[in-house]
Amino acid sequence: MAKAQRNAFVCQNCGAVAQRWAGKCASCNEWNTIVEESTNAPPPGSGVARGSKGRVITLEGLKGDTSEAPRMTTGLSELDRVTGGGIVPGSALLIGGEPGIGKSTLLLQLSAAIANANGKAVYFSGEEAAAQVRLRAERLGLSGAKVGFAAETNLANILATLADGDPPDLVVIDSIQTLWADALDSAPGTVSQVRAATQSLIRFAKLSGAAMLLVGHVTKDGQIAGPKVIEHMVDTVLYFEGDQGHPFRILRAVKNRFGPTDEIGVFEMVGAGLREVANPSELFLGDRSSKAPGAAVFAGIEGTRPLLVEMQALVASTVFGTPRRAVVGWDSNRLSMLLAVLDARCGVSFAQAEVYLNVAGGLRIAEPAADLAAAAALLSSLSNAALPSDEIYFGEISLSGAVRATAHMATRLKEAQKLGFKRAIIPSAGEIDGKTHGMEIRRISHLRELAEMTGACQGRPARGRSNEA
Ligand code: TYD
Ligand code: MG
Repeated sequence: MAKAQRNAFVCQNCGAVAQRWAGKCASCNEWNTIVEESTNAPPPGSGVARGSKGRVITLEGLKGDTSEAPRMTTGLSELDRVTGGGIVPGSALLIGGEPGIGKSTLLLQLSAAIANANGKAVYFSGEEAAAQVRLRAERLGLSGAKVGFAAETNLANILATLADGDPPDLVVIDSIQTLWADALDSAPGTVSQVRAATQSLIRFAKLSGAAMLLVGHVTKDGQIAGPKVIEHMVDTVLYFEGDQGHPFRILRAVKNRFGPTDEIGVFEMVGAGLREVANPSELFLGDRSSKAPGAAVFAGIEGTRPLLVEMQALVASTVFGTPRRAVVGWDSNRLSMLLAVLDARCGVSFAQAEVYLNVAGGLRIAEPAADLAAAAALLSSLSNAALPSDEIYFGEISLSGAVRATAHMATRLKEAQKLGFKRAIIPSAGEIDGKTHGMEIRRISHLRELAEMTGACQGRPARGRSNEA
């Protein structure tokens, strides 16, 4: 007896399967993403259509001749750093970021750099008209670069243009959400359109050896809009982030099939476009007011590069029963944990105070090693005594209050010394290559020692700290 045809309704955003069609997916709450798909099972035990015969493939070992993927250096060394030494020809990169953060500016500068190095760069803009892009190029001083430019959103036209003549070295699509394939009748930016366009463009990249750079919009919760599936399809996913109020922009790899994902590239948005920042520590410490209480310098690591940033805390009296805790640039759960540890293990209570914590310069820190610097800033603000301006901090704090070792301790110290810092408060465990790196180093094993130093512990004198307001 022939089986009745059975269809399922599959959400194109999250993959959830429903028994009947609905306008809104019950699992991810996206609208109009449910599509009917056939689920007719293949003949039992085969998974292969009846009658078709497979070909025997020769299996090989993992050892053998391989060549390092060739790289195209872009002329923007910060971008090269993030991609792991340059863009791999034939690869597809997705670059996400909030509107106005500078994606189009970065990609225009990149196209111009490739064109100026005698490469062929093609830029398709679906968001801005030709006149707007020309104006920007003029402002950036790049109008002389031989970038092929078109304002186009039709996928078929773009593919035909790309296939015509020499294959390009670099293709920029700004943005993937504006493209539409006329074979599909859904609107541009919908899941199926974005997926179809990405698929065709990646196929072109693989066949021609062109590097494909796709701009993707982010939704309000910071995800690249459209299905996660396009992140799976591309080789590299980069996020361009930063704060509209600050000139610093950070390029971060969140997925990279050809390199590391922990490196960051730092740029500064100036009047003439994005400028690369080779020494970010100097920038993030630039306008530091070292006399104020509540500021501590954290010696961090981003990828392989040390990065010094200032953590600022403000502890203020409250009129509310539940005092506020607000964090910018750090994890708010981490702050809650730190406050609890300070209370339970060091006897320093913040229960009657509002607590604000901010990472200067619009940077976002994810390293647990920032705990000690955050604690120092909090304690300094609570006791209203400024910390020495030539001191740096790093170390992870456990729930018991113990200060734990972190990675790359010597690198952090070297960077601090280079920038003129004289003292460091660091974990007692961990290797620092047996040298002090010209610094006066104080190694602590428990957070209480830091609380005592800052004088935040009741009944204990401050250790040589000035009381400045
Ligand atoms: P843009 O590249 O258009 O952002 P996105 O493509 O990510 O939406 O950048 C727009 C912002 O950058 C705009 O707010 C102005 C600023 N900007 C400068 O400050 N200097 C410049 O030279 C350029 C081109 C832009
Ligand atoms: Mg743009």
